[in-house]
Amino acid sequence: IDPTLDLEAEIQRLKKEKNAIILAHYYQDGEIQDLADFVGDSLDLSRKAAATDADVIVFCGVRFMAEVAKILSPEKTVLLPDSKAGCSLEDSCQPEAFRKFREQHPDHVSITYINCSAEVKAASDIIVTSSNAAEIIDQIPLDQPILWAPDRHLGSYLAKKTGRDMVLWQGSCIVHEQFSERELIRLKTQHPDAKVAAHPECHEGILRHADQIGSTRAILEYVIDGPDQKFLIATEPHIIHQMEKAAPHKTFIPVPGADGSCACNNCPFMELNTLEKLYLCLVNNGPQIVMPEELRLNAVKPLERMLELSK
Ligand code: 13P
Ligand code: SF4
Repeated sequence: IDPTLDLEAEIQRLKKEKNAIILAHYYQDGEIQDLADFVGDSLDLSRKAAATDADVIVFCGVRFMAEVAKILSPEKTVLLPDSKAGCSLEDSCQPEAFRKFREQHPDHVSITYINCSAEVKAASDIIVTSSNAAEIIDQIPLDQPILWAPDRHLGSYLAKKTGRDMVLWQGSCIVHEQFSERELIRLKTQHPDAKVAAHPECHEGILRHADQIGSTRAILEYVIDGPDQKFLIATEPHIIHQMEKAAPHKTFIPVPGADGSCACNNCPFMELNTLEKLYLCLVNNGPQIVMPEELRLNAVKPLERMLELSK
């Protein structure tokens, strides 16, 4: 790439030429968020991907999110700037082991977090995100036992919140698992006026101190709309970019990991996408998400159930 090339302008030009839309998750680098047509949490991004009339969706997020876009909009070209942008939750739940897990609990309905592969989705009954999981679990008859995969922390949080017994897969997010309860307590003593906002992929040691627990969008709304002025943020710190844009007069402090640094809480998968790769994927029309139609047809059913069951 020519060092004098105006990448942002070129991306805008290519976007128009190809009738493309750029969707980005809140964990993407600020410069990618600023270029995107829409920035959202997993649920809003999947709805946006299903509704767009663009021919090309450039998905600045991780693979499972781009796969959801392809599953819901199969006629569109879906591009992922770095094909290696995966997710530790997806890695923790391999399709064959998941099918065995289901076979061991044949009477259970399987409610699966959207952070998983298309194969695991295809073997699940209902997909949920952290935005709609409790609302969907509340609609399952009380005598119906539930299997949950793959995030154990989100699973325990939901079991407590909904009062349901759930058999939990033991996966976790390498990013949210690193937050240190001790560092959080230290920050609370330094900033006694700060509220704590946490993603439910955090472990109980963090969640027990949280004033607000929710999806990335719910956390954003809480800090922007509420009266409080200072927040300790226990989720991937790139979301602070949107917070500072929407509420520049408020203070947002990222909660660190055990070594006291915040950089260890950057999602290493989300970080693989860069502005340069975003440009190149538009030029090259790839990497593209491709998937056998039979797999897509099986994976779309539990996703459609999610969209039916959530407001
Ligand atoms: P959200 O659905 O809250 O955006 O979460 C996605 C994710 O990967 C959290 O780590
Ligand atoms: Fe996956 Fe965790 Fe990264 Fe979210 S933050 S994409 S759950 S590894």
